[in-house]
Amino acid sequence: MPTDTMKKIVSLAKRRGFVFQSSEIYGGLKACYDYGPLGVELKRNVKNAWWRDVVTQRADVVGLDCSIIMHPDVWKTSGHLAGFSDPLVDCKNCKERFRADHAPRATAGAECIYREGGKSDGKKLKGVVGAQGYVCPVCGSGDLSDERQFNLMFRTNLGAVDYLQEISAQIGDLAALDGAARMAKLHEIVGKSAVYLRPETAQGMFVNFKNVLDSARMKPPFGIAQQGKSYRNEITTANLTFRTCEFEQMELEFFVEPGTDDEWFDYWQKTRRDWYVGLGITPEKLRLRAHEKKELAHYAKACSDVEYFFPFENAAGEGEWGELEGIANRTDYDLSKHAAATGKDLSYFETETKKRYTPYVIEPAAGADRATLAFLCDAYREEKVADKGNEDDFRTVLKFHPRLAPIKAAVFPLVKKDGMPEKAAEIVAALQDAGIAALYDHAGAVGRRYRRMDEVGTPFCLTVDGDTLEKGTITVRDRDTMRQEIIAVGEVVAYVGERIK
Ligand code: GAP
Repeated sequence: MPTDTMKKIVSLAKRRGFVFQSSEIYGGLKACYDYGPLGVELKRNVKNAWWRDVVTQRADVVGLDCSIIMHPDVWKTSGHLAGFSDPLVDCKNCKERFRADHAPRATAGAECIYREGGKSDGKKLKGVVGAQGYVCPVCGSGDLSDERQFNLMFRTNLGAVDYLQEISAQIGDLAALDGAARMAKLHEIVGKSAVYLRPETAQGMFVNFKNVLDSARMKPPFGIAQQGKSYRNEITTANLTFRTCEFEQMELEFFVEPGTDDEWFDYWQKTRRDWYVGLGITPEKLRLRAHEKKELAHYAKACSDVEYFFPFENAAGEGEWGELEGIANRTDYDLSKHAAATGKDLSYFETETKKRYTPYVIEPAAGADRATLAFLCDAYREEKVADKGNEDDFRTVLKFHPRLAPIKAAVFPLVKKDGMPEKAAEIVAALQDAGIAALYDHAGAVGRRYRRMDEVGTPFCLTVDGDTLEKGTITVRDRDTMRQEIIAVGEVVAYVGERIK
């Protein structure tokens, strides 16, 4: 069950058009979401902020946009085909399928009590926690299947092939084989045309290392950055867009000379943590967590996660640390593996020093959806703003950093007459012309219009009144302080533009 705060955020996200369940009118699809009109702007602003800060404003990073489907051997070399899997378990009582490493821990041999079939009115049963030391996350039973590895990559087939036909043609021979041999034969048939949806964007940058080196004339230390969709057949999904099967990554592969990697690892940990704080995340809700040795991926020399304290439910109540980004020192693992697999030289020759080396890689790998969710959760506030004893005493406000706010300014005519709507529309057009997302709203009392804009995080509301037409002034109301000031209409674009940088 989500917590109260999370429930409210999910409800607001749907009501105001940030996030919708995918295919909702068909009953929805587990762990798949669509971004609504405001959500798409918010996420785009997050991605643009990342691209600007990580690529455009740096001379040492260039961008790339690789195809989602890559040569299947890429995934053999990277280790994803053999090792990118989660330990899966089935509950024999309620039939839930879950990840062993996410299951509630329990002492092996201890008693566990659960309901038959996992039903709330099922018979109360007593069981024993098995040697694996966990129970079913749904019904609490210890009666579980053995763990088996489940590969997270989505497999599909490229070309006009129909492997079902081939299987059908060989069905008799296949039936005669024993289990393992039959599976091997089936893998062989399917594998002939099998390709995979990428589970990370990183590999596209490794296999293009030489292309970028040659075409963009880069030399270490330098980075290749990419944003794009990745796909993982996740078993456990929850908490809106936190863990989904289709998501967007923002990854940087930063290539450095071996020996300088520790220094660069420290630099990127600090730079990436500061990025979230600079965009308004509450510093106390952000931490860098170094991986313990046993947690490290086989290719990593070191890794730290940037984590945010989400308002998710956990055993202790509200709040749980969740990973926004992993910063890893991947050494020369990837380039060396791809070089060995392809026979291509992926080393770098430094002409000045006549040194040849395979660069080490520092990888800050972020998720656009998780970052967007963190910015949304962090911005959410309920505030008492008056003392009249009615519902108007409270407001819900999203205190987005102005760079991230989906709408930067809303312009209201005080009344729907006397040329005010036309003037307001003119100001909206001037803002939009300057590339500033602005909105016109004339419905309801101005106070109500402020509240509507607070709820979607619009930093500035501008009200056109009689003085606007007579004296050329306009009232600007600040979302956070709720203070109002009067400025000249001619200054509106510069005023808003300056404050959303
Ligand atoms: N190339 C390294 C890599 O992919 P990762 O920690 O598996 O590392 C990087 O992924 C980031 O991608 C995560 O920190 C997270 O923000 C995001 N991410 C990973 N799996 C995700 C999922 N199932 N749903 C949403 N975001 C995900």
